[in-house]
Amino acid sequence: MLEQKQNLIRNFSIIAHIDHGKSTLADRFLELTKTISAKKMRPQFLDQMSLEKERGITIKLQPVNMLYQDSQSGREYSLNLIDTPGHVDFSYEVSRSLAAVEGVILLVDARQGVQAQTIANLHLALREKLTIIPVLNKIDLPNVDIATRRSELAQLLNIDPKDVLAVSAKTGQGVAELLKVIIQKMPPPTGRADFPARALIFDSFFDSYRGVVALIKLVDGKIKVGDQLTMLAINQTIDCLETGLLKPNLAPIEQLSAGQIGYVVTGLKEISVCRVGDTLADTTNQQHTKPLPGYQSVEPMVFAGLYLPGEKENQKLKKALEKLKLNDASFVFEPERSNNLGLGFRCGFLGLLHLDIVRERLKREYDLDLTITSPSVAYRVTLIDDQQIIIKTAEDFPSPIKIKKIEEPWLKINLVTPQNCLGQVMSLIKQNKGEIINTHFLFNQQIDNSSEEPNKQCQVVLDLEMPLSLLLVNFYDKLKSISSGYASYSYELLGYRITKVSKLDILIAEEKIVPLSRIVYQDRAYAEGRILVDQLKKNLPRQQFEIKIQAVVNGKIIAAERLSALRKDVTAKLYGGDISRKMKLLKKQKKGKKRMRQHGKVYVPTEIYVKMLTINK
Ligand code: GTP
Repeated sequence: MLEQKQNLIRNFSIIAHIDHGKSTLADRFLELTKTISAKKMRPQFLDQMSLEKERGITIKLQPVNMLYQDSQSGREYSLNLIDTPGHVDFSYEVSRSLAAVEGVILLVDARQGVQAQTIANLHLALREKLTIIPVLNKIDLPNVDIATRRSELAQLLNIDPKDVLAVSAKTGQGVAELLKVIIQKMPPPTGRADFPARALIFDSFFDSYRGVVALIKLVDGKIKVGDQLTMLAINQTIDCLETGLLKPNLAPIEQLSAGQIGYVVTGLKEISVCRVGDTLADTTNQQHTKPLPGYQSVEPMVFAGLYLPGEKENQKLKKALEKLKLNDASFVFEPERSNNLGLGFRCGFLGLLHLDIVRERLKREYDLDLTITSPSVAYRVTLIDDQQIIIKTAEDFPSPIKIKKIEEPWLKINLVTPQNCLGQVMSLIKQNKGEIINTHFLFNQQIDNSSEEPNKQCQVVLDLEMPLSLLLVNFYDKLKSISSGYASYSYELLGYRITKVSKLDILIAEEKIVPLSRIVYQDRAYAEGRILVDQLKKNLPRQQFEIKIQAVVNGKIIAAERLSALRKDVTAKLYGGDISRKMKLLKKQKKGKKRMRQHGKVYVPTEIYVKMLTINK
């Protein structure tokens, strides 16, 4: 039995910007505590999904319980680590983890320095009043200026630079000392073991053999097999079929005690019932149990249509989306029909990486090769009768005469860049209608700002506001390219602001091609219309007759091109001789083409839609 006294428990998370080495540091912890045997160890062990392993990124939070023998006191500690994702799209996973722990390791890559997600995650930790242990990682890399980075991090936290630890998660240097500091500095959990059971559900998943498994932080009391527990938010009672620790696989124990992080097998068949953020409480005392604070629900920010042609394929897609949602509560979808692409689903995502991950999972886990329409944001449209509607696709855009005002989502962005590319970053922000609110330098006297190398530059933090729709259009790629990969940003939704947008339609041979319609800023409509028309001219196969390609806004043609006809040599079969016979054949061809132009339909191959619509990674 593994019942731990509460003061021998330490619950913590590692928070950091993407790729700063969280999962690698967790590997060293797993090794040092002998949680995973050397034979089973592989890099980034806690990244369990195949996609996580391949891309080297963490997508889902992952808890693990480790036993640590303190050589000084001889005591054995139970350490619960929750590994968290670093990308901004998955920051809701971070906030969920933080509600279950008492402290965090704030890990910073010594070469990159403080980045946007470092600051965003630090704010989340401060909001939860957690103990913060700042650590510089990757000190084995050549050319890193540890002293400078140490001062920078100390300045951010308003602490003494000597309190910033330095490790190499790769070589293991400094990691054993870090474990000692965790024991000394992180506080044990503060719940009451003698109170009725009260636990926070911070994650859940569906296991085909056991049903729904809830991952919990047991705040007060004890939980053992056979206990009757109630999910307070929905008043659903369950029997605890099994309880245990995460090693990281499920390791059953007889009883979970206050302060521990573990799991409960609920016997539920429906994962949507087991709501993340809900409180699981002892049923007999449920009336007297105060629910724990829980979480804010996350709202999707980016929308796109997912299509697979054919009724049968559509059913397959529906089943796959339903299954995917079981493990990804932030993903939403509803059926929609498009004239050109057929049946599909309009889906909501937290950001572009989230969209990309969902697309890749559908391809890999369900073998579905989808067409994805260009991602869009949700516009709030007020009609002249004051009715308010939400528009997520150009197809739903109302007629301009019915519109009173349109609002679009704006973001509050925190951007960190090396000083040497500040000018270019600022003009990129301006080009994207961004407004800089505040600029400050994570300044340190020792930094050599004459250096051309971005990693030796002083970091500048910009607070700015920008429309979400423009962040979606290559902002990330451009920022990375002008800063040689050193600038980064994090964002949160600020609210809706009035905007001037219109629907841009594309006509081919005078027929509207609905899925190519999009919502564009009025002051950019001409430029976008021109690009679309030129791209179509380049990519569309030529037809038997000449076709017009037009971009139209509010009934006005703003860009047009003609795609010349495919010329078939109808006289090829004639051998020499009679010119009048040749003329007759050419005249007949001309007449035929005229008829086709009047009555013919242009066939637009699906690949063209895909080319024009799929997101440009
Ligand atoms: P996300 O989960 O995607 O946010 O990444 P992460 O923070 O978990 O980073 P991860 O552990 O996957 O490491 C990112 C890359 O940095 C990998 O290629 C690691 O091998 C490398 N890395 C991590 N720690 C060190 C270190 O101390 N030294 C060196 N040289 N490389 C390291």
